[in-house]
Amino acid sequence: MSNNQRKILVTSALPYANGSIHLGHLVEYIQTDIWVRFQKMQGHECYYVCADDTHGTPIMLKAEQEGITPEQLIERVHEEHLRDFTDFNIDFDNYYSTNSDENRELSSGMYLKLKKAGLIESRPTKHYYDPERKMFLPDRYIKGECPKCHALEQYGDGCEVCGATYTTTDLINPYSVVSGATPVKKETEHFFFKLSECVDFLRNWMKTGNRGESPLPPEAANKLEEWFEAGLRDWEISRDAPYFGFEIPDAPGKYFYVWLDAPVGYMASFKNLCARKGMDFDRFWKQGSDTELYHFIGKDILSFHALFWPATLHFSGYRTPDKICVHGFLTVNGQKMSKSRGTFITARSYLEFLQPEYLRYYFAAKLNDRVEDIDLNLEDFVARVNSNLVGKYINIASRTAGFISKRFNNKLASSIDVADIEALQKIQGAAEEIAHCYENRQFSEAMRKIMVLADVANEYVNDTQPWVIAKEDGQEERLHQVCTTGINLFRLLTIYLKPVLPDMATRIEGFLNVEPLAWGDSSELLLDHEILKYKHLAKRIEEKQIQSMLDKNRETLNMENKKDGHSQTRHAQAQQHEDTPVADTIEFDDFAKIDLRIARIISAKHVEGADKLLQLTLDIGNETRNVFAGIKSAYSPEQLQGKLTVMVANLAPRKMRFGISEGMVLAAGPGGSDLWILEPHEGAQPGMKVK
Ligand code: 2FM
Ligand code: ZN
Repeated sequence: MSNNQRKILVTSALPYANGSIHLGHLVEYIQTDIWVRFQKMQGHECYYVCADDTHGTPIMLKAEQEGITPEQLIERVHEEHLRDFTDFNIDFDNYYSTNSDENRELSSGMYLKLKKAGLIESRPTKHYYDPERKMFLPDRYIKGECPKCHALEQYGDGCEVCGATYTTTDLINPYSVVSGATPVKKETEHFFFKLSECVDFLRNWMKTGNRGESPLPPEAANKLEEWFEAGLRDWEISRDAPYFGFEIPDAPGKYFYVWLDAPVGYMASFKNLCARKGMDFDRFWKQGSDTELYHFIGKDILSFHALFWPATLHFSGYRTPDKICVHGFLTVNGQKMSKSRGTFITARSYLEFLQPEYLRYYFAAKLNDRVEDIDLNLEDFVARVNSNLVGKYINIASRTAGFISKRFNNKLASSIDVADIEALQKIQGAAEEIAHCYENRQFSEAMRKIMVLADVANEYVNDTQPWVIAKEDGQEERLHQVCTTGINLFRLLTIYLKPVLPDMATRIEGFLNVEPLAWGDSSELLLDHEILKYKHLAKRIEEKQIQSMLDKNRETLNMENKKDGHSQTRHAQAQQHEDTPVADTIEFDDFAKIDLRIARIISAKHVEGADKLLQLTLDIGNETRNVFAGIKSAYSPEQLQGKLTVMVANLAPRKMRFGISEGMVLAAGPGGSDLWILEPHEGAQPGMKVK
């Protein structure tokens, strides 16, 4: 390899081991994977490592809820995550776990070095405590009434109904989500990393990085400036037992807070890779290293990566990152991803109906080097993939390959005509500027340039009209040259798109009968070479695939919500509450006419020929009722049997197509799969009046 071969270690943020990978996550993994593949195509030595982020209270409690150990939970999730990533062609060199020996050793080592440097301090501090469960609670595990609008079940950081922001102490009647008990403030001793003493180092690192340029995009550097101005507080790095994590070496019963050992997980994953491949770990992590370190992250975890991480690295004797590449959030159809709208799309739901590389292309067409949110507009997604990828790019091969196999026995011509050189040179000449875009993570610009070149290629085919030449006598050689040029134009575009479409590129390499394409191959042409018979390479997306994906996804989310005891759905309900105007006022007398009763669902059945209805037999104490309820999209009959619900008992019987409905079951939610029948709490008896 040449002397300018770089050695680069690249990471993406470690996903928590208690949830599925969704399209929001994938923005980052796809962005990083494209960048890494580009570096590898350039011939650089580049490693991409990641891991599951496995520690902390949420993971401990989720395992407990499922009746398994945290180790069992993280093992299962690791498998699921890795399968999702692999299916999206995210090619990690190592996908590890933060719950590893390497990580325990590195985290403890780092802590001891920071302690030796005088940067760790132990102090008493107060935290919320669940007296029933005898455990300290993170803020997300305390809910209560909003002090402003009095909405119930709000988190301590703000109200999802009225939008007020406040702190956990302001909640009215706070309770622990774990046990229901009222939390108390309790004093405990914790370790702190003295971030306040790292300001000079961080200010300098932010400006000049390791090689004289800022490691941060300008928006992120501005944010840091704000934080410096407000003053940096010391950072609490310990948690009390019970906690799933690493016990601190000299402090029994105290554990490293998950955010201490999570970024060390980058090192641990790489260390594990080094051991397997016989590589030199220290060369990459020692101060003054000649290697490069790139972290790709979302804007929500900037403080961890741009303050704590470089400071803890530096003061424990390691090198600091060269670049922190920060992206924004994903919106779907212009709005925050939402479970109630069904736009909180999991990787798995997508994969069941659509090709992974279509999403890779779409994200690439939207991503740049700025900290901006990107939007997945599903209509635009279909249009762009169909017109650009299938219509422009793949079309070039399908218009010329047939002649090569039928008329020239799969063999490309040994030379081309001067008239063909212009189009080829235009495309070959763009290699450097497209590489520049990839290198600087201006992927949308790279895709724009490539599609302009695809237009050049299509114009060439339109102008030369091989299908016309094919019918003319004595034009055999010309036809051969034109189609050979067409295939070469296609090959060049394939090189440029390969970081984004690796799977497609592999299939095309098969068709072209060539070794894996590298970036430098764009300087050469493929002549006098036997290719394979052309097989169809890509299909257009049909609208109905999108709908099926959304439907399936809704169904999956709905099942998960029900498993999680409805807690994830409050936000969706609050949003619905804002979207729909309240109906005209009624008088109390009107309301008093409604007789609401507790009903037990004795049986629930499908109704032949009805899309939305289930037939319920309800016990309301002294009688049974037959009710047709439009809740099939949200519940299966098995889920309902035996449940207590609330019904309007004095609604006049209505004749429906399938029989007479004697009342109405009350449910909450915007509809579709986001619908919850009201469930009275234990103790209610069928027939009881609801007040
Ligand atoms: O925010 C998150 O999803 C964290 N699990 C990211 C950790 S990144 C790194 F620091 F480990
Ligand atoms: Zn409120």
